[in-house]
Amino acid sequence: MMQTLYVELGERRYPIYIGSQLDIATLLSPYLPNKQVMIVTNDTVAPLYAKTYEDALQHLGKTTATCILPDGERYKNIECLNLIFDALLREGFNRDCTVLALGGGVIGDMAGFAAASFQRGVDFIQVPTTLLSQVDSSVGGKTGINHPLGKNMIGAFKQPNIVFADMAQLKTLPLRELSAGLAEIIKYALLGDIDFLIWLESNIDELVAGDEEKLAEAVYRSCAHKARIVANDEKEHGERALLNLGHTFGHAIESYLGYGTWLHGEAIAVGMVMAADLSCQMGLISAEDVERVKHIFQRAKLPIRCPNIPIDDFLNYMSHDKKVLNGSIRLILLKSIGEAFITNRFDINMMKQAILNHLEQ
Ligand code: NAD
Ligand code: GLY
Repeated sequence: MMQTLYVELGERRYPIYIGSQLDIATLLSPYLPNKQVMIVTNDTVAPLYAKTYEDALQHLGKTTATCILPDGERYKNIECLNLIFDALLREGFNRDCTVLALGGGVIGDMAGFAAASFQRGVDFIQVPTTLLSQVDSSVGGKTGINHPLGKNMIGAFKQPNIVFADMAQLKTLPLRELSAGLAEIIKYALLGDIDFLIWLESNIDELVAGDEEKLAEAVYRSCAHKARIVANDEKEHGERALLNLGHTFGHAIESYLGYGTWLHGEAIAVGMVMAADLSCQMGLISAEDVERVKHIFQRAKLPIRCPNIPIDDFLNYMSHDKKVLNGSIRLILLKSIGEAFITNRFDINMMKQAILNHLEQ
């Protein structure tokens, strides 16, 4: 079982393979022109999957080395990025090498940034092993690291040669991480596809239970959305910003609580509820629509409220978001369920109310 999608970027067009128990050697081989392959992974994923990839690549006659980073968002920093460069240089890797990211979004973002900058750019392959990275971070070329003063503040666009998403690898993923990935999947439905939302409402229990066929379908439909948006607006001058539905609220939650306390997917789930609430106050969607949004998140085992963050702190963190333009907060809101838009025209008091309505008392 495998489905293929393409991110249509002219000469940089690349495939996304989605399936279960994919044949690594056969499928990756055409996208591996180089002999040297550096697998970048972490100390959770390495014991589970690194050997399978090392064996497959060696079977293809590649020279491999594996760089194992410590696991966690707090290690998505310049020091750990440097560990990748150390490994590449120590192993004598040259400009004709490939960096293969084997892990979730943290590994994908860091390995991608290393591939973008090592010797001014080498080939890059994404093997996302979390649901979130399969539907979001591995597709579209955003890479980077965090700075103590802000998340994802340093980075580059680096499109991979191929994205290789194997549902069988999700078996070992903790349930909380699976739900975090479902938040991004639901995001695609809310921002652009009511039919997908209806499909999710019928299949959410199987998705939460880890049904591989349903997961593959959800990943396919999500990646199809992202691939289309990235092809239209690779560098986020317009439409791509819609992918940030719930993110300005969510980043405030993540920043206040400390990165890693709440998962990104959990924070943006609450963020999307807040965005829906504000859209409702603005008369764009109905109270029933907001309940529908909350219900799908609850069924996906995601939170719909966040801890009681002082409102001034919340607003302060929101104003540090990357989407703030010339001092004004830009939000992604819902015109209807299945249609998002970007705006800086909203009543700040309504926005505050939308936040206050979803803080735990
Ligand atoms: P993550 O990379 O931290 O992975 C979550 C946890 O799951 C980690 O502990 C990881 O080691 C573990 N794990 C990974 N695969 C596993 C598997 N198959 N079995 C068992 N455990 C496994 O988190 P994530 O949610 O994948 O990604 C979040 C990161 O992605 C954030 O840094 C965020 O900024 C970034 N991101 C980037 C983009 C982008 O466009 N580049 C988009 C969204 C998010
Ligand atoms: N995750 C948002 C984007 O890739 O643009």
